[in-house]
Amino acid sequence: MGPENVTDLYRRRHSAGWRERLFRILNPPDLCLPDPAELKIDAPLGRWNLYIGGAGCFVDGYVNVDLFPLPGVTVAASAERLPFRSDLFQRVECDAVLEHVENPGAVVAEIGRVLSPGGYAHFVVPFCHPFHEYPRDYRRYTLDGLKQQAGGLEVVASGWRTGPTATLLVFVLEYVKAWLPWRPARVVAHGVLGWLVFPLRYLDVILRRSPRAGRIGNHCYVWARKNGQTATLRSAPSLSAPRGV
Ligand SMILES: C[S@@+](CC[C@H](N)C(=O)[O-])C[C@H]1O[C@@H](n2cnc3c(N)ncnc32)[C@H](O)[C@@H]1O
Repeated sequence: MGPENVTDLYRRRHSAGWRERLFRILNPPDLCLPDPAELKIDAPLGRWNLYIGGAGCFVDGYVNVDLFPLPGVTVAASAERLPFRSDLFQRVECDAVLEHVENPGAVVAEIGRVLSPGGYAHFVVPFCHPFHEYPRDYRRYTLDGLKQQAGGLEVVASGWRTGPTATLLVFVLEYVKAWLPWRPARVVAHGVLGWLVFPLRYLDVILRRSPRAGRIGNHCYVWARKNGQTATLRSAPSLSAPRGV
């Protein structure tokens, strides 16, 4: 998918046209159930906070940077070269972006540069998740890989945002759609199957406690701090995958 298709996709998502509105109403709920523990860290918003890759989202309290000047975006720029001075932001959100950039090391270095000392960055990336281009899709991360990627900052919490059931459900949907060459058929399959299977997502409430859950987790996260003050963690469960079989 090229840049034009990303902008089309976002425009369709937010269009007030009757077709798009009907589509949004019939669209099944998200199959991935986020773990609320992921957000239980004392990393308050400051005067300036940065949200990376939020095209089409209106994120209160953040400067929203994306490649595309779409609704919700405050500054159109690449996260590989952030147009801000150093030590400015208290919080940086980088959610489902690192897999889409050409040079994730440059993005993490830029986040480290613009974070104020003692500020926090939140990274979320897919591990087991279908190919999805925004506008490209270059890679997947293990939890260890994400911690290593965030290396220049101090990792203070990590774990799985969405678990094995999310993985299973999104792949079942993609598998069924792979059999359907016609877009209208894929749209119907997505709607019908999505509504049928979405209640299964709640199995992750139990399953993400399993020590084996990280072997096929869906998205993992890391909270990282730019040196300085001590974090007060309320909870930071980490589903580690046991070594070996
Ligand atoms: C999967 S979407 C993230 C969605 C958003 N975080 C959310 O959860 O709703 C990835 C976003 O990153 C943006 N993006 C991709 N490469 C980028 C880059 N180099 N700099 C800034 N944004 C980028 C894309 O345009 C897209 O809006």
